[in-house]
Amino acid sequence: MRRDIRRVALLGAGVIGAGWAARLVESGIDVVVADPDPEVHRKTGAVLQNAERALRALFPEPPARRGSVDYAASVEAAVDGADFVQESAPEREDLKRALLARADAVAPADVILATSTSGLLPSRLQADCRHPGRVVVGHPFNPVYLLPLVEVCGGAATAPETVPAASAFYASIGMHPLHVRTEIDGFVADRLLEALWREALHLVNDGVATTDEIDRAICHGAGLRWAFMGTFGIYRLAGGEAGMRHFMAQFGPALKLPWTRLEAPELTEALVDRVSEQAEAQAAGRSVRDMERSRDDALVAILRALEAQGIGAGADLARWRQGREIMSKFD
Ligand SMILES: NC(=O)c1ccc[n+]([C@@H]2O[C@H](COP(=O)([O-])OP(=O)(O)OC[C@H]3O[C@@H](n4cnc5c(N)ncnc54)[C@H](O)[C@@H]3O)[C@@H](O)[C@H]2O)c1
Repeated sequence: MRRDIRRVALLGAGVIGAGWAARLVESGIDVVVADPDPEVHRKTGAVLQNAERALRALFPEPPARRGSVDYAASVEAAVDGADFVQESAPEREDLKRALLARADAVAPADVILATSTSGLLPSRLQADCRHPGRVVVGHPFNPVYLLPLVEVCGGAATAPETVPAASAFYASIGMHPLHVRTEIDGFVADRLLEALWREALHLVNDGVATTDEIDRAICHGAGLRWAFMGTFGIYRLAGGEAGMRHFMAQFGPALKLPWTRLEAPELTEALVDRVSEQAEAQAAGRSVRDMERSRDDALVAILRALEAQGIGAGADLARWRQGREIMSKFD
């Protein structure tokens, strides 16, 4: 698989595709966007502007070479000449299959075709490609330009060298590739997030808590720990000196109690209205871009704090910083 990546085709430039664009150009890689939205220039521009602001707070020196952003009139035109393709179109299997097949028809066989899908199975997405061996999931997290995690998952027809090659590329742009070894709906991270989301929807639906109360229950407590230590690490400590066995013995009975319902509630119009109205009230009239800036400021502060500790995503950031310093010496 091709390892020298200088130009990436981005198929779809919504929340995620534009986030990829920001991370890539910051890493000196040119991007070519294909997106039928007539407003794609304006929307991508707004994300790039916010990303630039956050990235300068993370790395005061701009990159030695910033990648360029171009817009193509078709998928084929974007893929032509690209060394890597990242598809971030809406989460619909038929649409993604067709887009990957169109890219596959144009791209040389050593060009990796990655999809940002949040949980669709790569074996199905690669099914219409002539060269399915180069198709892989590269599932990022929003905002792509600040969060390092990317889940990498191959399908039944993915060639053995594709996952390591895609992972090496993602690591080179400051990311933390996690190989999802078993192809499973929702991969690892979204299965966890989905479980929380389903229970949160039940709590709103049943009138137990508002969206704001649920968000406070996360941000003021467990969310702070999750920035650097996962559920198993945290619960190991919760068992005190006696450790995980003690924790499991103590809280084991709760697993039998009705503390969660993993079957999601019906998305009735009333529930959608309630969640949307409460979430709007939480926003208190602030625009999405303004809220993104607040989110990014907090993420930058957390990332820098974790970098000083050398843990979690801070270790990824330290590696990214080191890579940029080496690059700037060669430029
Ligand atoms: N939003 C998230 O938090 C998140 C996180 C990780 C992964 N993802 C995944 O990333 C993908 C994109 O999600 P998003 O949130 O950016 O969605 P989005 O709706 O913000 O963006 C999708 C973009 O794709 C474009 N598009 C539609 N048809 C297209 C086509 N035929 N060719 C090219 N582009 C086309 C749309 O115009 C739009 O700009 C999905 O697969 C989603 O599951 C989303």
